[in-house]
Amino acid sequence: MKVLVVGGGGREHALIRKIKESKRVDSVACCPGNGGISYDAECYSVSATDIDGVVALAKEISADFVVVAPDDPLVLGMVDALNEAGFATFGPKANAAIIEGSKVFSKNLMLKYGIPTAEYKVFDNPAEVIDYIREKNEFPTVIKADGLALGKGVIIPETLDEAIAGVKEIMEDKIFGASGNNVVVEEFLTGPEVSVLAFTDGKCVKPMVSSMDHKRALDGDKGLNTGGMGTVSPNPYYTDEVAKECMEKIFIPTIKAMNAEGRTFKGCLYFGLMITPKGPKVIEYNCRFGDPETQVVLPRLKTDIMDIFDAINSETLSDLDIEWSDDACTCVIMASGGYPKSYPKGIEITGLTDGQLDGVTVYHAGTAIKDGKLVTSGGRVLGVTALGSDLEDALAKSYAAVEKINFDGAHYRKDIGKRALDLLR
Ligand code: AMP
Ligand code: GLY
Repeated sequence: MKVLVVGGGGREHALIRKIKESKRVDSVACCPGNGGISYDAECYSVSATDIDGVVALAKEISADFVVVAPDDPLVLGMVDALNEAGFATFGPKANAAIIEGSKVFSKNLMLKYGIPTAEYKVFDNPAEVIDYIREKNEFPTVIKADGLALGKGVIIPETLDEAIAGVKEIMEDKIFGASGNNVVVEEFLTGPEVSVLAFTDGKCVKPMVSSMDHKRALDGDKGLNTGGMGTVSPNPYYTDEVAKECMEKIFIPTIKAMNAEGRTFKGCLYFGLMITPKGPKVIEYNCRFGDPETQVVLPRLKTDIMDIFDAINSETLSDLDIEWSDDACTCVIMASGGYPKSYPKGIEITGLTDGQLDGVTVYHAGTAIKDGKLVTSGGRVLGVTALGSDLEDALAKSYAAVEKINFDGAHYRKDIGKRALDLLR
């Protein structure tokens, strides 16, 4: 089989590595891919959001299977277009991807079907949002742009002035475009966060091993929100008891709700959860594998991933036994100086051979090859990933490797996994 993976970040690199392990796969192609991915897959310069371009590429290279990894092409209907052109795919259709594409949709879905989440109100008018927040006078509060916003569409103002500034940016200056036409204002929840990715064929749901993201840029969960600065798996806050409650109150009800709405979800459904004092609640759904969660979840997968994709397409997932290793896995993101604000590109990366380093797997998020040299090309550059007998062991390997990799301005968090380890101690 020849498999085409759409996307070009660390998540796609992790997917490609896992797909290459499949006995049934001869070669993997990727569009657009990146410098580091090009060591593992033939990369084609077609944008991940170019639906016609991706369909044409799949035909040109005679792909047998196409995996659409990022949110925006899924929400835009790339899977629908590929299916119409006769390609087997992994990823939800547009009518199901809306679970991530619209926060208003997902909040209303949870309310309608009694799935635990923060209390909320929807607005289409900036003045009304401010009046509501002023009257409520509860801070911090949470304001979310309705549509996709590169993971940056959530603000958590501590004061009314911050809320006014945020609403202006989202709803008037339209920094996320039409994604800011509507906003959701919701109750601020507290508790540890857990990411659970789950395979589903619309009939059954099979959660993968749990993980924990670290979204803020700086140590101690300080600084700006980012796409994710590191991950660990398993997440010790996700106990068997919590898992059982999530299955009963969140996972199965969500799959049923989507069916009841005529929006059967097939693919990887990402549950962003918070374990609040009142039990687990949904912070967000994503219609795809998380980034950088995938980088710590898939290395633990023992079952052939193509068998899982096939079982989803034939709606026989319940018959498949999916196996996971007991190892822990950790990913430390090395980012460009300045990220998540503006940052330079094209900085040479040293310390890697053919993009890799012994003892770890380096998933490339934002790299390019220029004049034969590996250089930075994005905000998140590398995900330095290690398996270990436990989190401590895996973290020691990830951090030892990070010390050996250099590029000017590189920054990374020194406390990935600390919150998880604190609970275990
Ligand atoms: P989201 O993009 O919806 O995952 O939100 C980004 C981050 O904002 C989450 O990972 C949480 O850390 C935080 N967040 C979102 N919603 C809430 C909430 N209702 N209460 C507290 N924190 C939240
Ligand atoms: N790591 C969070 C996300 O993929 O959206």
